[in-house]
Amino acid sequence: MTDNELITLGIETSCDETAVAVLRGASQVLSSKVASQDDIHSAHGGIVPELACRRHIELIRPMTASALEKAGVGFKDIDLVAVTRGPGLVGALLVGLSYAKALAWASGLPMVGVNHLEGHVMSAMVENPDMPLPCLALMVSGGHTELFLLSQSHSLEWLSGTRDDAAGEAFDKVARLLGLGYPGGPIIDRLAREGKPVYDVPVALKSEDTLEFSFSGPKTAVKNIVNRLKNEIGENLPVADICASFQSAVVQALYGKTRLAARRFHPASIAVVGGVARNSAVRRTIGALGEELGIPVIIPAPELCTDNAVMIAAAGAGRFLRDRNNPEFHDFQEMDATPSWLPGV
Ligand code: KG4
Ligand code: ZN
Repeated sequence: MTDNELITLGIETSCDETAVAVLRGASQVLSSKVASQDDIHSAHGGIVPELACRRHIELIRPMTASALEKAGVGFKDIDLVAVTRGPGLVGALLVGLSYAKALAWASGLPMVGVNHLEGHVMSAMVENPDMPLPCLALMVSGGHTELFLLSQSHSLEWLSGTRDDAAGEAFDKVARLLGLGYPGGPIIDRLAREGKPVYDVPVALKSEDTLEFSFSGPKTAVKNIVNRLKNEIGENLPVADICASFQSAVVQALYGKTRLAARRFHPASIAVVGGVARNSAVRRTIGALGEELGIPVIIPAPELCTDNAVMIAAAGAGRFLRDRNNPEFHDFQEMDATPSWLPGV
C-alpha cells in the first residue's frame, strides 16, 4: 500500500465529544462524525465526567458505523487505527482506547495512541499539508492554552502554557457568571460583536518578558465589574459590552505572547488551533499578525478547531507513515490512558 492509499480510522473520546473519522493518506478526509454532548452538560454549566463516559459508551459503536458508511469503506478496508490516549478525562479516554484496542487486535491492525494536543496541532496540516515548518502553534481550547514549535521533522517542542485557567475555560466561566449557558465561547463571541470594549479588563502579563498566559485575572475583573454594575444599575446588565471587554483582553494576551514567541523563534508559519481558534476576533487578530511578520497564518476550518477525530487520524497517520516498520504500532495491548500528558516538554 502506498502512503496515499493508507486508510486510517480515527477515534476521539477525551472529553465531551464522541468523534470518529476516516482519512485516506495523510490528509484526505473521507468522513468525519462528531456527536457533541453540549445538551447533556449545559444544564450543569460544565462537563460532568460520569455523564460524558456513559454517553461515549452508548455512541462509540454507532458513530463508528456511521463514519465508515459515510466514507464508503468497511472494517476490512481499514489499515490503521488512531485513537486519543490523553490528555483528557480518564474514564472518557478509556472508552475510545478500549474500543480501538479491541478493533485493532481483532483485525490484526497496527494502532497509534495519539496525544490530543498533538492532534490539535496537526489539524492545521489537514487543509495545508505543505504548511511551512518550523511552525509556531498556538493551541487554545477549553483545557489548554499552550505554545508549541513544530519542527521540520514533525517533532513538537513545548514553549509555554497558562499559569491558571485555559482561555476556553475563562470564556466558559465568564459565560456562566453572566448566565449565558455552555459552552460560553461561541455565545460570548456572538454577543461581543454587538458591544464595545468599554470596561477595563486587564491583559495579564502584558508587559512581562514571559511567554506564559494567565486568564484568571480577566475572569475576576469581569466578576468585579458585574458586581459593581449590579449595585449601580440592577440586573439589566450591558452584557454585550462586558463580553466585548473580556474578549478583547483575551485576544490581546494571545496576540501579544504569540508575537513575542514568533520574534524569539523565527517560525516559517503560525498555526492557531483548538476550540478557541473558532473565535472571530482571534482569527482576525492573529491573522493580521501574519501579515505584520510576513509569514502565513494557518487557522483550520471551524469544525477542525473544536474536538474532532480527523485531527487524531491525521496525527496517527503521520506518525505511522514516518516510521511504518516500528514494532511499537503492533504492541498496544498494555497501552493505558494518560490523563495528564503534555507533549514535547
Ligand atoms: O478544543 P475543544 O473542542 O475542546 C478541548 O479540547 O477543550 O475546545 C472547546 C472550547 C470551549 O471552552 C469553548 O467555549 C471554546 O472552545 N470555543 C470558543 C469558541 N468556540 C468554542 N471560544 C471562543 N470563541 C468561540 N467562537
Ligand atoms: Zn481539544
